[in-house]
Amino acid sequence: MCGIIGYVGNRSAKLEILEGLKMLEYRGYDSAGICCFEKGELKLIKKKGKVDALKYACNEQLKDAHCGIGHTRWATHGNPSDKNAHPFLSENNSVAIVHNGIIENFEMLKGNLQKQGVRFRSETDSEVIAQLLQKSKCESELKKVQELFSKLSGSFAIAILFKGLENQIFAIKKNSPLIVGKSKDGFYLSSDVNALVDKTTEYRIMEENEIVWIDNQDCYVFDANLQAKEITYTPMNLTKEDISIGAFEHYMHKEIMQVPTAIKLTINECEPMVNPYTKLPKEILKDLKHITIIGCGTAFNAGMTAQHYARERDLIVDCVYASEYRYRKFLSQDNEICVFISQSGETADTIEALKIAKSHNIPCIVITNVATSTINKLADYVIPTKAGPEIAVASTKAYNAQITALFALIDYIYCLKNKINCRTCILKDKLYDVVKKLENYSFNNIDELAEILKDTERVFFIGRGVDYATSQEASLKLKEISNIHSESLYTGELKHGTLALIDHSTVVIVISTQKNLFDKTMNSIYEIKARGAKVVLVTQFEVESDAIDMIIKIPCTDQMLMAEISIYPLQMLAYKTAVLKGLDPDKPRNLAKSVTVE
Ligand code: AGP
Ligand code: GLU
Repeated sequence: MCGIIGYVGNRSAKLEILEGLKMLEYRGYDSAGICCFEKGELKLIKKKGKVDALKYACNEQLKDAHCGIGHTRWATHGNPSDKNAHPFLSENNSVAIVHNGIIENFEMLKGNLQKQGVRFRSETDSEVIAQLLQKSKCESELKKVQELFSKLSGSFAIAILFKGLENQIFAIKKNSPLIVGKSKDGFYLSSDVNALVDKTTEYRIMEENEIVWIDNQDCYVFDANLQAKEITYTPMNLTKEDISIGAFEHYMHKEIMQVPTAIKLTINECEPMVNPYTKLPKEILKDLKHITIIGCGTAFNAGMTAQHYARERDLIVDCVYASEYRYRKFLSQDNEICVFISQSGETADTIEALKIAKSHNIPCIVITNVATSTINKLADYVIPTKAGPEIAVASTKAYNAQITALFALIDYIYCLKNKINCRTCILKDKLYDVVKKLENYSFNNIDELAEILKDTERVFFIGRGVDYATSQEASLKLKEISNIHSESLYTGELKHGTLALIDHSTVVIVISTQKNLFDKTMNSIYEIKARGAKVVLVTQFEVESDAIDMIIKIPCTDQMLMAEISIYPLQMLAYKTAVLKGLDPDKPRNLAKSVTVE
């Protein structure tokens, strides 16, 4: 969470930072701020709200600046406000900082500084960093920065300006991402690579406990003991097109339309002869007894979908939220692997859960969409999803890519265990059918249903088996961007309590794609209708019934892969509902794209 950007070079620091912040805005939009050197002073402008508000506040100021830092915030400590917006200046305005992460010992540090008479201007944990730097007795700025490692606990990526060291930026990183970008016109710092596309030709991802010192000539990297490190840059291979919104009004719409491509590119990557698979530990997989899938939000839901697929392949899969895996009692199981799923590869809970699994010597496979992510570096094995950059906070194409990769992995394990020729190529043909069907899908009835939902207070998504996993994802999508209260349930569980909430004001969206469960689902539909709710059925089957108010007809494909299709209209439904409610689906209230804090 939070986006950090820094620039030093020939170009206008103000423009580079504002443009960078706009690209990082999906990481947080509670406030935005910028601090640049101007006539030797640290000039600070910050505003509650989105980057456009900051741009407006900057107006004609900071025109001649060539070095500065900026921040777009997702508040953890202190409400969203002008005063809690980053950057923070130290009391005597000699140090400016921006911070991504949480300083867990800030109360103790703040208390000590206050006893020394330091006055704080905000309620955040981050401000303590600027005050500590000002108070530091170390002889050089580099040493003052190094000292932070021993003083701060928690997670942090921090960029720092010192008055008197014009055109220089310092940065440190621990458990929060930070990247250095290089161009012929200067150096950049950024929380993610997307903000550097089109600006830099090369970049370097900072490693844990590193210090970076950049000026307009060069970049120097040190470890936590101040030993200089060699720098190797990676060429920038993303293009502006990859991250632009194109002809769409919102990224989420663009990304839903990219779902078929995301599936196609991911399955191409997941063929058994392709790299990620040849590297997997065959000896371990063939004797595998247990798979634990770990993730958060949509990534967790992808795991739930795959759980059903795996069961059909005689594999036992447990799905655990990363935030729970971290703190529950660890019980070892024979022949177990863990599969971690994360679009961003930066989710703090998932990364910490992976560290725990590794500490118990469990082989860890990671499925991620961002090749440069932190989690990839920690994983034993990486299976990439090829959804391309996902900018909208609500995950859509990445979900389909994740379940695609999971299906391929499960098939691969199944074949190894049963000593049969790998059937992934059959899966590929089947998924190509899915892709074709999705490409030609016309989202019938979705506009009409969105009109109904926009005035509905309560929505339930229900399903049995794999359709329950889809109902979870559909419900998450709707609630996160449309602010409508929605819940997902196993269809058979309704009558055990939740039916009490069903009345004329409720909409129940039933997902039914599994032939053997269809009749049972129809029984539940009658029970719901009898309580007066509006019933919407998402299915590929032909059905006529007075108990159903609307049918969202979906194309038919292999039954085991229907989850790729059934979620598609429901992603669009969430999007359309949010738009009809006048909400920005790309930036839902209180949320941010990569959750890099606990
Ligand atoms: C999805 O729509 C959400 N924004 C959220 O649940 C997300 O899937 C979750 O935070 C996990 O993110 P990750 O895949 O980047 O780890
Ligand atoms: N803890 C800092 C704040 O609340 C930064 C938050 C973050 O990085 O998400 O301002």
